[in-house]
Amino acid sequence: MNIEQLAAPGVQKLTAYDPGYDPETIRQMLGLPRMVELGSNENGYGPSATVREALQARDFSDLIRYPDAGARRLRAAIAQRWNVDPAAITLGNGSHELLVLIAETFVAPGDEVVFSQHGFAVFKLAAIGSGGVPIEVPALPRSGAQPLGADPIGFANALSPRTKLVYLANPNNPTGTWWRRDALAEFLQRVPHSAVVVIDEAYREYVDESEVPDGLTLSDIHPHLIVTRTFSKAHGLASLRTGYAISSPRLAAVLERTRLTFNVNLYAQVAATLAMADTAHVERVRAANASERAWLSAQLRALGLFVFPSQGNFVLVDFERPAKPIEDAMLRRGVILRPMGGYGLPTCLRITVGLRDENETLLAALRIVLAERA
Ligand SMILES: Cc1ncc(COP(=O)(O)O)c(C=O)c1O
Repeated sequence: MNIEQLAAPGVQKLTAYDPGYDPETIRQMLGLPRMVELGSNENGYGPSATVREALQARDFSDLIRYPDAGARRLRAAIAQRWNVDPAAITLGNGSHELLVLIAETFVAPGDEVVFSQHGFAVFKLAAIGSGGVPIEVPALPRSGAQPLGADPIGFANALSPRTKLVYLANPNNPTGTWWRRDALAEFLQRVPHSAVVVIDEAYREYVDESEVPDGLTLSDIHPHLIVTRTFSKAHGLASLRTGYAISSPRLAAVLERTRLTFNVNLYAQVAATLAMADTAHVERVRAANASERAWLSAQLRALGLFVFPSQGNFVLVDFERPAKPIEDAMLRRGVILRPMGGYGLPTCLRITVGLRDENETLLAALRIVLAERA
């Protein structure tokens, strides 16, 4: 028997998540002085100054110790910030881990897992990996207000007595599109109580459209609602890998059975606790991103490109021709963008909203690359 057949049935069908390029590896390969990394939706504004100072002040004597498995301080900081019970919080090694943990915990072989076409890639991987049956809801057309976004009616029609888990991202990566409050509330009312619903809010802090609901305000509608968020984006702590889920305490207690005990390390706990308290920093990041996103979108549209509306720290761009040669040419010019072939969008690239000088470098390179191919 070969090694493929030894893997569990779900794993046999799986392809590993594509994490994008490591900037330093690609920089060395290309022999360039620097790379502008706009492929991973990171936060160029960085973390709160209080986080930097606290980490710099440590003497690392505690490197020999296991972290607090219950992450008491961090959970208290999150609970205080969002006015929830600390027992409602599950911490993850990034929210990515939580998305997978939820499927591992609730999905048995044959259970249906509903998510959108062009939805965040981890949804499908988690569904398949846990032996579930992926139910991919066709996206909305490109022509509407939410181009290629999640279709609330399609989601409702995809529900069945076999539905065990529903994943949706608000706003969604990579499309940048969002669910409106009324549509999401109406959908949640229809989801049977034999299913768990995940609202992935990795980009929540960037939202500035009032019609995009805070998932936490919807928790009365469905008893098994889980809202996931992360310190990787607006808090600027992607390297520390910390995310959190908020659900009912009873649901969190079930997740606790499968969570790896020490999945959030000590330095991540210290940093995230301080990051959560620095609301002024997050607000500065939100405001800066919002104005830069509007500026970058306008500049890209002025190049004749189709730019999707976005509530995140990135924009999806449709070049309306195969985007791979454009991505490669940009890479050779030192700009990392995210290809979208794996999302079924081979004519698109996803571009992180960077700092102004990064965005200017991007635009200058793109003008040359598009002119070469005109
Ligand atoms: C929609 C969405 N959810 C979750 C994640 C996972 O982020 P992390 O594991 O860093 O919290 C990402 C990362 O890009 C994302 O785009």
